[in-house]
Amino acid sequence: MSWRGQIIFADNLDVLRSIEGGSIDLIYIDPPFNTGGKQWRRRLRAESDPNGDRVGFAGRRYRTTVLGSLAYEDAFDNYLAFLQPRLEEAHRILAPHGSLYLHIDYREAHYVKIMLDRIFGRTAFINEIIWAYDYGGRSRRRWPAKHDTIFFYAKDPERYFFDADAVERIPYMAPTLVGPRKASRGKLPTDVWWHTIVPTNSHEKTGYPTQKPLGILRRIIQASSRPGDLVLDFFAGSGTTGIAAWELGRRFILVDNNPNALAIMAQRFAHIPDVEWINFDPSPYRPPHATPVRRHPLRSWSE
Ligand SMILES: C[S@@+](CC[C@H](N)C(=O)[O-])C[C@H]1O[C@@H](n2cnc3c(N)ncnc32)[C@H](O)[C@@H]1O
Repeated sequence: MSWRGQIIFADNLDVLRSIEGGSIDLIYIDPPFNTGGKQWRRRLRAESDPNGDRVGFAGRRYRTTVLGSLAYEDAFDNYLAFLQPRLEEAHRILAPHGSLYLHIDYREAHYVKIMLDRIFGRTAFINEIIWAYDYGGRSRRRWPAKHDTIFFYAKDPERYFFDADAVERIPYMAPTLVGPRKASRGKLPTDVWWHTIVPTNSHEKTGYPTQKPLGILRRIIQASSRPGDLVLDFFAGSGTTGIAAWELGRRFILVDNNPNALAIMAQRFAHIPDVEWINFDPSPYRPPHATPVRRHPLRSWSE
């Protein structure tokens, strides 16, 4: 394998079906949330057609027909039907020691957990991680919702890899109560992770609307993979998982079907060597005199 990373422009289901079973060490995904947005309101049927209007993975062409638009409830059924085959493939391609982290909005989390329990088995459920942040307006009609959920499942609960010692420790809330030695070492994070969203004016910000913080991905990758392992994100967006994996010495595969995501990744990965681009030419999007990708400071946790 000559590449450190692969970035693929395609529908992720086509790519997943082409990946060898048991070959991936860690999967992180952050699927689009089903908040009733317009992408879930249009129903499309895609049929294989050599003269079709869409090109899929490996150059296959498809003809799409708009079947109509849907109310929110229908769109929700559609959302689970969309996720299910992708999660089944994720389970198939994970190595016996592999793990899946699925990042999801609190409005969908319980439905998706039931689906994951069915696909992975209830005993394979390891953690529900709450990513808590504090940003934006505060409703006065209810408790302001300021968290996302990340489900952590193991392919095999008896064999999954997890290295707590590799995780960056965090400061104690009351360091004077634990003594100077413990206080200077910090403590292990729990399943509640306080972390800022990507700050608007930070060098980390790419402009991709749903970009997740590198600090979240670093923690997942540090704990649930080893250097040299292969990390997959098949809803890659701006490529945060790939950047964190590369910084931590892991290999990565990123997949997205939105050309805007690929254009952002072309800029973000401009100076990362040994990246193979599939179905997409990054060169028009690359800055002519780009400075090397900066390593981001590791201390971004606040608790
Ligand atoms: C919430 S965003 C991911 C953001 C990412 N975690 C980041 O930090 O930038 C979800 C992504 O999934 C992509 N996506 C949606 N459906 C897809 C599909 N069928 N195949 C591949 N990518 C898809 C969207 O284009 C979008 O970029």
